[in-house]
Amino acid sequence: MSAEMTSANAFDFDGVSVPFRPGQTVGGALAASGVVSWRATRGSGEPRGLFCGIGVCYDCLLNVDGQRSQRACVTPARPGQEVRSDDPGAPLPLPALDGAES
Ligand code: FES
Repeated sequence: MSAEMTSANAFDFDGVSVPFRPGQTVGGALAASGVVSWRATRGSGEPRGLFCGIGVCYDCLLNVDGQRSQRACVTPARPGQEVRSDDPGAPLPLPALDGAES
C-alpha cells in the first residue's frame, strides 16, 4: 500500500474495506480492487457494474450511506462511506402517512 492509499482512504463495501486514491469515484475504486459487478438485472439476473463510466447508462447503481440508486461512476469516494451492492427488486420503503389508519 502506497503512502497515498492509507486506511484513511478507504470505504466499506458489503463489509470489505476498499482503498481509493484521492479524487477517485466509488466505481473506480471498486474496479481497481477487482470488483466488477455489484448488482443484477431484475429480469435475467445479469451482473452489472461500470458500463459507460460517465453517469449516463445507470448500470452502476448501488447504495451509498443509505441512499439507494447512486451511480458509482460519478459518486466521489470518501473515507468511511458505507457502500452496499444494490438489489433493484427490493421494495422501496413506504413513506410515513400522517393520520393513516392501520
Ligand atoms: S457506468 Fe453508466 S451511469 Fe455509471
